[in-house]
Amino acid sequence: SAAEKGGHDYFMLKEIEEQPEALANTLRGHFSGGVVLDEQRLSEQDLRDVNKVFVVACGTAYHAGLLAKYAIEHWCRVPVEVELASEFRYRDPVLGRDTLVVAISQSGETADTLEAVRHARTQHARVLAISNTNGSQIPRESDAVLYTHAGPEIGVAATKTFLAQIAASYLVGLALAQARGTKYPDEIEHDFGELEAMPEAVRSTLSVVEQTRGLAERLCSAKAVLFLGRHVGYPVALEGALKLKELAYMHAEGFAAGELKHGPIALIENDLPVVVTMPSLKGHPQLHAKLVSNIREIQARGAHTVVITEEGDDAVRPFADELIEVPVVPTLLQPLVTTVPLQVLAAEVARNRGFDVDKPRNLAKSVTVE
Ligand code: G6P
Repeated sequence: SAAEKGGHDYFMLKEIEEQPEALANTLRGHFSGGVVLDEQRLSEQDLRDVNKVFVVACGTAYHAGLLAKYAIEHWCRVPVEVELASEFRYRDPVLGRDTLVVAISQSGETADTLEAVRHARTQHARVLAISNTNGSQIPRESDAVLYTHAGPEIGVAATKTFLAQIAASYLVGLALAQARGTKYPDEIEHDFGELEAMPEAVRSTLSVVEQTRGLAERLCSAKAVLFLGRHVGYPVALEGALKLKELAYMHAEGFAAGELKHGPIALIENDLPVVVTMPSLKGHPQLHAKLVSNIREIQARGAHTVVITEEGDDAVRPFADELIEVPVVPTLLQPLVTTVPLQVLAAEVARNRGFDVDKPRNLAKSVTVE
C-alpha cells in the first residue's frame, strides 16, 4: 500500500529517504574511546599483522568495496585489492594468515561471496564480513562481523544498504588504522566525527529529489547515458550506471574520466547525456580542474552534460547543461551524498518508462546460485 511505501509510488524512494537513518544506525555504538567493531573473533594483534586486504563482493556491494580501497589505503598504508567475488575464487589469489578478506554482502547469502569467503578461509586468511542480515551465512562463516543497520530493504536494487556498506567499510578502515597505529587516536576520533555528521548531510541532499525527477523526465528517452568520475567519483559513476541498467533497462556505462581519451570520447554524439560527478574543489583542486576540462571537451562534441557537484562550485557551472548541487563534505565521504541523485535518477527514469522500480525484470534481491 501507499502507506507502507511512505506515501511513495514505490519502496525504493522510501528507502532512499531512509538513508540518513540507515547511516546513523550503522555508526551508532562504534565509538567508545576508539573505534569498536561488533562480533570480534579477531584480536588487535591479528589486525596489526594484516599486510594485505582483499575486498570481495558482487553488484552494488562491490562498488562499496571499491570505495573501501580509497579509505583503507589512505588511512592504513596497507595495499587493498577489490575483486568481484565470482572472479576471486577461480583466480588462485595469493592469501595467507596476514591477509584480511573483507566480504561485503547485504543479504549475507550471495553464493559467489560466500564461496569466496570459504576459499579465503581454506587459505588461512582472516575474514571480516559486512552484512545487513543478522545471522546470515557469510557472517556465520567469518572471523569477525560488522553489521550494517539499514533495516530491511524491499527494493531489489540496493540503496540504503549501499550507503551503510560504505560507512561500515570506513569503520573497518579506522579500526585497522587504530590497530596499526597509522592514525593517532585524536585523528580517529575526528574522522569518526566526520562520519557521524553524514546522516545530516545526506538528509539535506534529499532536497535534490524533486529536481532529479524533472531531469529524469528529460532523460527517459535517451538511447544511452554515460557516467564519469575520478577518485571516489569513479565507483560512484559505476554505481550510477549499474542502477540505470538494472531499473531503466537503459544502456549505461561508468568510466574513469581520465580514460575518456582512451575510448569513451568516441561515443559522444549530439544530445548524449553524460553525468559527471565532480571531485571536491578544496580536497582535490587539480582533479577538479581536469574534470572541468573533460566536461568542456564533451560539451563541445554535443554531449548533454549533467553535473553533480558541491554547493558553490561556480567553476563548473558554465559547462553544465544541468547542475545538481550537493552539500560540501570531506572527499572520501562525497559518495554518500553524490550517489543520492543517481539513485533517484535511475528510479525515476524507470518509472517514466513504465517499469516496476522495486522489482526489475530478471533480477533477484539475493543471488544464491553461482
Ligand atoms: C543482487 C542485488 C543487488 C546487490 C547484489 C549483491 O544483484 O540485486 O542490489 O548489490 O545482489 O547482493 P549482496 O546481498 O551480496 O550485497
